Amino acid sequence: MGLLRAFADAVLVGAGTVRAEGLRAMWTPEFVFPVATEAFASLRQALKRQKAPRLVIVTARGELDPAHRALQEGALVLTTTAAASRLRKLLPRATEIRALSEGARVSVDEIFASLKAEGYRTILTEGGPQLFGELVAHHRVDELFLTVSPRLIGHPARSFGIIRGEDFVRTFKGGRLLSARRADSYLFLRYALEDAA
Ligand SMILES: NC(=O)c1ccc[n+]([C@@H]2O[C@H](COP(=O)([O-])OP(=O)(O)OC[C@H]3O[C@@H](n4cnc5c(N)ncnc54)[C@H](OP(=O)(O)O)[C@@H]3O)[C@@H](O)[C@H]2O)c1
Repeated sequence: MGLLRAFADAVLVGAGTVRAEGLRAMWTPEFVFPVATEAFASLRQALKRQKAPRLVIVTARGELDPAHRALQEGALVLTTTAAASRLRKLLPRATEIRALSEGARVSVDEIFASLKAEGYRTILTEGGPQLFGELVAHHRVDELFLTVSPRLIGHPARSFGIIRGEDFVRTFKGGRLLSARRADSYLFLRYALEDAA
């Protein structure tokens, strides 16, 4: 995850993920793998990337805690006109708030037009399940990095998956394996995503 972040111009997440991760979370390479902090910095320099990937948060309701550490460090919030006016009074000045929609949601096309306008080419999304589902449904995900962990978990009411709220059961996406790495019992799989034949 640190390497994926280190290669990215921007890390794109839904507000649900930001709310779930807690106030200290950061979406930088070194936050998830601190021992490689210097190596990540050298890599980004060699790649001519900004010092850190830009955190881009998508929200309709604008329920973001101004105390969140990541919001002190120049995040970009893509949202609706109604939520933007409220968030501008609430969030730290370091956070840029961009109103992209008069409606109740921000469209995937609007999100990508905004990212393109910033000059971002390599965009890493870390979901969560709702935003990721929208991006897959709109054919905006080129590659899937899937980690298979040796963990089985259960919950009385919830089932777990990486997509929520979209319906493409019949037109499912397929993946072509590009690479596989192993660390201990973990598998790190990289797929090119393709539409079902
Ligand atoms: N295992 C993993 O790798 C992983 C990764 C990420 C997240 N998660 C887990 O996923 C859970 C959160 O799930 P989630 O589906 O709520 O996450 P999510 O997709 O990050 O967040 C959903 C929220 O994002 C905003 N959003 C998404 N699409 C939008 C659009 N088109 N326009 C405007 N706003 C949009 C909305 O925010 P508002 O409600 O503010 O309007 C929506 O409620 C957490 O438990 C988290 O820990 C797991």
